[in-house]
Amino acid sequence: MQLRRAGTTAALALPRSKTNEQDGVRIMSNERELIPTPQQVKGPYFLANSPFRRKLIPKELTGQKMVLSGQVLNTAGNTIAGAIVHLWVADPSGRYDNQLDSGAPSQLDPSQHKLRGRQHTNKNGCYRWIFLRPGNYPLVPGGSQKRPAHLHVLIEAPGYKSLVTQIYMPDDYWNTRDIKDGREDDFFQPELVVHLAPAVPHGKQTQVGTFNFVLSKA
Ligand SMILES: [Fe+2]
Repeated sequence: MQLRRAGTTAALALPRSKTNEQDGVRIMSNERELIPTPQQVKGPYFLANSPFRRKLIPKELTGQKMVLSGQVLNTAGNTIAGAIVHLWVADPSGRYDNQLDSGAPSQLDPSQHKLRGRQHTNKNGCYRWIFLRPGNYPLVPGGSQKRPAHLHVLIEAPGYKSLVTQIYMPDDYWNTRDIKDGREDDFFQPELVVHLAPAVPHGKQTQVGTFNFVLSKA
């Protein structure tokens, strides 16, 4: 089986003798099917009517710029064109644009939806986001334990189960501490980690990541 790697024209051959992980895609032990991306909790900050756009960098905010790209695939490894990919993120200080709790309103106007958007995958099933790396925020309001930086994603495509998940950065202190009440399913999972390209040693740095999503049939 071959998968086309996002952002390149090279085909990626998956080894047949062992579990393979590449930018979020895992192959099942029968070597014929890809494992669907794990579902995670949607959380309280999703809005269904976010604008169609690829860049989520409000001029009011500064932070680590990130570019994330990848493909949406089915379990047979075929790309899904026209899927709708939603992204919503916290700001670099760890607050969502529609967050009204904890007594401190977001510095962004919630009606502007500045930290969220939707886009369609192109004919090759590719998506691409530009945004500021989200910050950590307390697991429970006022608590000292924090959630690792994460991106909330919803993907919808006709004929497939909608995927609601969160994806994570590989270098966050809180990744291995992301647990609440003994429940781990809706928290950090190694298979949901973005692949980050090595940092550029000089100049302004943009973190470049890749992650491919796999949807299961409805
Ligand atoms: Fe979140």
